[in-house]
Amino acid sequence: MEHISAIIPGAMSVFEARRGNMTTSEKMLFEFNGIPTRFKGRTFENYVPVGVDPRPVCMQALTDKRGIFIDGNTGTGKTHLAVACLHWLIPQTNVSYRFLPTSELMLELKASFSRDGEKGVLDHHRKPTVLVLDDIGAEKVSDWSRQMFYTLIDRRYRDMSITIITSNLSLAKISELIDDRISSRIPEMCEVVHLTGPDKRVTK
Ligand SMILES: Nc1ncnc2c1ncn2[C@@H]1O[C@H](COP(=O)(O)OP(=O)(O)OP(=O)(O)O)[C@@H](O)[C@H]1O
Ligand SMILES: [Mg+2]
Repeated sequence: MEHISAIIPGAMSVFEARRGNMTTSEKMLFEFNGIPTRFKGRTFENYVPVGVDPRPVCMQALTDKRGIFIDGNTGTGKTHLAVACLHWLIPQTNVSYRFLPTSELMLELKASFSRDGEKGVLDHHRKPTVLVLDDIGAEKVSDWSRQMFYTLIDRRYRDMSITIITSNLSLAKISELIDDRISSRIPEMCEVVHLTGPDKRVTK
């Protein structure tokens, strides 16, 4: 495949130079923050586009300090692309970031009933400059979870923080099944990237 630096000159050289100069603790920080083990090696370089290449749009959005909303069917590479965005952006900017599966957010919120409450959890995830909220809409939606999502997304919307959201649901479906106040905010916060193609887990 075409090297990423052919699409955006200097893109990977910044990454390589930055990573090469990292101390061990910087590398640790870069490696963790919730990125799942399976996805640690997923970058723009090993992302093979199907149809229109979403990488330039992602890089431009992040350069403009905008988020990205990635939708598509299962296995089309949404999580891969979201992690690749972190791998591309973080070494260049060194900003705080977190990868947060929505299912884990829900578990944290439920567990928080007996601790400092939902507020503490939502405050925590409000903070990172870049937050990947992976797989929104995959869990059973209730009035409570609607309110939690809305609160987190609205805070990040107001803060103008960079939020990368992945979902099997289109914006229209998010409006219908979760909350139209969320689907209304997303296009203002994010570039919208629609992934197509077969389930890569089955075809690769
Ligand atoms: N375009 C691609 N190029 C290279 N690898 C890909 C691509 N799309 C998907 N993959 C690989 O296929 C597997 C599934 O991709 P991924 O988990 O990102 O899909 P997803 O859209 O997030 O699926 P789900 O909706 O089930 O969460 C991963 O191992 C990923 O690295
Ligand atoms: Mg996924």
